[in-house]
Amino acid sequence: MAKTSFDAQKLLAKRVLRIGDSAIRKMMTTGHKVAGAISLAQGIPDAKTPLYIREGITELLKENDKIGKYSLGPGLPELRQIVADTISKKGNFSVDPDKNVCITAGAIEALAITISSIVDEGDEAILFDPGYPPYIPQVVFSGGTPVLVPLQAENGWKIDLKKLQAAVTPKTKALIVCNPSNPTGMVMGKEELDAIAALAAEHGFFVIADLTYEFLVYDKGKIPTLLAYPEIRDRLIICYSFSKEFSMTGWRAGYLYAPEKVLEQALKVHDEFLLCAPTPSQYAALVALTKKPNDDPEGLHAEMATKRELICERLDRLGDLFSYTKPRGAYYILAKYKKPDIDSWAFAMRMLNEAKVIVIPGVACGSQGEGHVRFSYGASKEKIHEAFDRIEAWAKTL
Ligand SMILES: Cc1ncc(COP(=O)(O)O)c(C=O)c1O
Repeated sequence: MAKTSFDAQKLLAKRVLRIGDSAIRKMMTTGHKVAGAISLAQGIPDAKTPLYIREGITELLKENDKIGKYSLGPGLPELRQIVADTISKKGNFSVDPDKNVCITAGAIEALAITISSIVDEGDEAILFDPGYPPYIPQVVFSGGTPVLVPLQAENGWKIDLKKLQAAVTPKTKALIVCNPSNPTGMVMGKEELDAIAALAAEHGFFVIADLTYEFLVYDKGKIPTLLAYPEIRDRLIICYSFSKEFSMTGWRAGYLYAPEKVLEQALKVHDEFLLCAPTPSQYAALVALTKKPNDDPEGLHAEMATKRELICERLDRLGDLFSYTKPRGAYYILAKYKKPDIDSWAFAMRMLNEAKVIVIPGVACGSQGEGHVRFSYGASKEKIHEAFDRIEAWAKTL
């Protein structure tokens, strides 16, 4: 019998072919092969997962056999109850852990199951450019069109509310808001959130709030909560991550809070793709929330604030090469480099190969990020110093 020729490429799904490779993955795996390279690329907090979490989970692993088994699909009931109580307290309305909360494998899964439950072929989702890189491919994978609202470095990456309004069309299904922002460190205040709530209420679309860095606003700042707007309660979705607040990126724990109608659908995707978030990680998240000692309330926050000053000082010393806006939250700086003839991929690759420092090319965060590179200051102070010593020496060769 004649053999049919086999072309794997032809058989691959268009849905997946139309999204590109993750720039973060590419930079991290390429950088991994460069001996001695220092990463200021992926947002990994250098601090260890706090001892009380590591000790707590170790004890539980010894005595609780349920840890090694599937949990209920939506997550441990006691963890969902705490999440529901937290949201209920913040928003001053009741939240049902069974109808509104799913524990996920990180905020990234919460985003993925939400976006794939909402965005259909031909739909539009509004994103800010620059933004967190996975938003665009997640929307495109679902068949949607990302509508990008440009932010300007010259304007401190602040949202232009007129441009946001102009991006809304009858096809708008959702707006994704990351506050504080990765990659710019920009923080939206009441004026912006008022406008977002008013637009969502008027035009009837979902607001997906990525609150991965809500805990990390500097200078005693606090961001107002979108939970305070009753007019968008039926369309507000929150994606939360345990990764950053508790230095537990590898555990893969997060949660989704959503109105019942959305959660019902998102749970279907979660069930079929994940079954449940890793159970040991759910217990670790439970320990993180319930056993937190109060003797070091500022720990990670104070450490990040110091590192923010450090990286800003080091960038200031390189004023001939970089300009930037000081972040008000999160732990990233999207710095503009003063070399107009080189694109951000080439610039990041040269920095990797010649200075042995890994950063993310700004264009990975959207076209407004072109001409920039993203630095994460999750790394230790020593690593930040060493990386910038290398960049200073390299800058002289450019
Ligand atoms: C803005 C933002 N959202 C979501 C995530 C994903 O977080 P998780 O580790 O919980 O999946 C990250 C990780 O860097 C992030 O920066």
